[in-house]
Amino acid sequence: MRLRLILPLLSIAALAAAQTSLRSTADGVYTTAQANQGRELWASLCQNCHTPHSGTPFKNRWMGRELSALFAYTRNEMPKSDPSGLSDEEYTLAIAYLLRVNGMPAGATALPSDSAALHRIRFDSVRSVPTSTGPR
Ligand code: HEC
Repeated sequence: MRLRLILPLLSIAALAAAQTSLRSTADGVYTTAQANQGRELWASLCQNCHTPHSGTPFKNRWMGRELSALFAYTRNEMPKSDPSGLSDEEYTLAIAYLLRVNGMPAGATALPSDSAALHRIRFDSVRSVPTSTGPR
């Protein structure tokens, strides 16, 4: 805390920039359309084994981690009967629905399909920037 107070303004600006570039799933990182399509995808390709996980073990496992990790896991392991069997876009839709089932809000920007962009989104229940001081 003390160190923060004596940091030059430049560092504070840099910190603010870093915070806005790293988003949280609580910010609204997928669209309603994506989640709706994801629900259909789960119904046809996933749900004969399981519905989207949303319990405590699931949250404990992924909370605070980058979405790229969840994306990579899902792409490499799922469907269990046909790993990597879907396109990146389809995995993105599946994850959009998974986020909605976990209580994450939809937003105006679509969830990206590339892992570099997903690496900048954290699975989290709190927003990256408080609403009162945020840029939007
Ligand atoms: C043939 C059965 C089967 C199908 C089909 C299947 N899964 Fe799974 N899935 C599993 C099993 C079993 C696990 C538990 C982890 C393990 O054993 O590897 C799992 C785990 C998961 C997890 C991790 C959950 C956690 O708690 O971290 C995700 C995410 C997931 N599946 C997504 C999907 C998606 C998306 C699809 C459809 C595209 C799908 N699965 C289809 C069997 C299946």
